[in-house]
Amino acid sequence: MSKKLLEPFRLGDLSLRNRIAMAPLTRARSGHDRIPNALMVEYYTQRASAGLIITEATTVSAQGNGWNESPGIYTDAMAEGWKPITEAIHNKGGTVFLQLWHCGRASHSDFHGGEPAVSASAIQLNGDPIYTPDGKKDHETPRALETDEIPGVIADYKAAAERAKAAGFDGVEIHSANGYLLNPAHVRPSPPSLLSLSPTTNPRLERKMRSCQTHNNRHELTGFVVAVRCLLHFLR
Ligand SMILES: Cc1cc2nc3c(=O)[nH]c(=O)nc-3n(C[C@H](O)[C@H](O)[C@H](O)COP(=O)(O)O)c2cc1C
Repeated sequence: MSKKLLEPFRLGDLSLRNRIAMAPLTRARSGHDRIPNALMVEYYTQRASAGLIITEATTVSAQGNGWNESPGIYTDAMAEGWKPITEAIHNKGGTVFLQLWHCGRASHSDFHGGEPAVSASAIQLNGDPIYTPDGKKDHETPRALETDEIPGVIADYKAAAERAKAAGFDGVEIHSANGYLLNPAHVRPSPPSLLSLSPTTNPRLERKMRSCQTHNNRHELTGFVVAVRCLLHFLR
């Protein structure tokens, strides 16, 4: 068993040196500018013997921010900051994916100059309080994204995937849990607060998806489309 764990593994066109994968872990060490730094190079280098590292969640846009001092991948400076990390991991024979993140309604207006966070619907997250730059706060009601804003969000993911590739990542992973923007939200009637892009909390999406018969899991369609576009872009 332990021997098998240390054997190489083929993941698509990637050869992993062993079968150990490091789960994404938010560390909040990027400072206020959200640019990966020397401390993060050290942290990831120390763990590069894993077959595959999935990085901490990394925001695709300023709009997606919702965690103090987590890193981003939406400026060239951020991409430059990630480069020494991917290089260090590759130099040690490791493989690394960047986890792409948009916090959606799990964010707070304190991160957005007083403007509400955005989500699929104007429904407040029913969760633990959030640490904002101004302290611990209750969640707020987000602003529902307009349909014509969705292409902009997709463009953010696409640009993030592009920058990830340029920064040397071997792949990207879409973070879509915990009520974040792309939470595919396996339809759960209760509590509705766990839903994000689910038609259950988004009547507009429900109407759109009813007219689209191409995907059985209709509630996953939006996240799915973004994920696939992102991935295709990465592999191009
Ligand atoms: C401190 C901490 C930070 C985490 N950050 C992330 C993250 O950025 N992205 C993510 O998808 N999961 C994150 N997770 C979830 C973990 O990756 C993992 O799924 C979770 O701890 C359950 O793992 P286990 O079943 O092996 O205990 C985090 C967990 C912890 C404890």
